[in-house]
Amino acid sequence: MYEKEIVAVILYTSLFFILLAVGLIVFFYFSRKRIIEKELEKKDLEIQFKQDQIQAVILTQEEERKRIAQDLHDDISSKLNVVALNSHLLNSPNLSVNEVQEITQNIIDLTGKALDSSRKIAHGLLPPVLEKFGLHAGVEELCLEFSNSKAVKVNYSCRTEFNIAENDCHLHVFRILQELMNNSLRHGKATKIAILFEEIDNKKQCTYSDNGIGFLMHNSENMKGLGMKNIESRIAFLKGTIDIKSAPNEGVIIIFNFE
Ligand SMILES: Nc1ncnc2c1ncn2[C@@H]1O[C@H](COP(=O)(O)OP(=O)(O)OP(=O)(O)O)[C@@H](O)[C@H]1O
Ligand SMILES: [Mg+2]
Repeated sequence: MYEKEIVAVILYTSLFFILLAVGLIVFFYFSRKRIIEKELEKKDLEIQFKQDQIQAVILTQEEERKRIAQDLHDDISSKLNVVALNSHLLNSPNLSVNEVQEITQNIIDLTGKALDSSRKIAHGLLPPVLEKFGLHAGVEELCLEFSNSKAVKVNYSCRTEFNIAENDCHLHVFRILQELMNNSLRHGKATKIAILFEEIDNKKQCTYSDNGIGFLMHNSENMKGLGMKNIESRIAFLKGTIDIKSAPNEGVIIIFNFE
């Protein structure tokens, strides 16, 4: 009788431990599966995000090319066409002195205009001040251009220095500010913009704000543009981070840093 009880106790205890072991194995198996699924989901989202960024870059490049092609066609080719026509006219026989003078003046005016246009297009592609004197001077000029439009007052200050050798990277910062300022005017109807560069923990930081109508963050309507996507990919390229804060009627505050 006593022996039977001992056998039963051993049996039940072993059964209990076997069940516990099976339970633990099943538990670990499913929780591990869940973790792996979560990680895969995260990776999928990251891949999707990168694909969106690449697509945004490609689309912007195409739009930029279209714009340059249009500018070249409308502002330069058309003028050079008329210059060519006028130059041929100069070869016509029996032209009076007045006519020659008129045609020559026409040619001078048109080539002047074509030169102006080509300068404007080149400026848009790579602002010469930025290239020659660095980010600070480039942003100063950009702010002046916006302030001169009288639609907005720009307050710019720079409490750090930029090494001109890193101009290639700084061009990204310049483009980010260009996009932010365009957005502030176009969407925010802002009348004031503030830009501050400073150095925090060995990183350059830019604080950008406007007093415009702001926007609802996380509203999918606000995620449709290419501008913000491009800004994100430029920040990723600069190995920096960006923090965007906005709410209706509270303007925007954007803080980003870069190396
Ligand atoms: N400073 C701002 N004030 C108010 N709304 C803004 C501001 N910046 C961005 N937005 C909102 O966020 C949206 C997305 O901006 P984004 O620059 O990505 O696209 P977009 O300017 O509409 O188009 P794109 O830049 O491609 O020409 C805008 O359509 C606008 O609704
Ligand atoms: Mg935009």
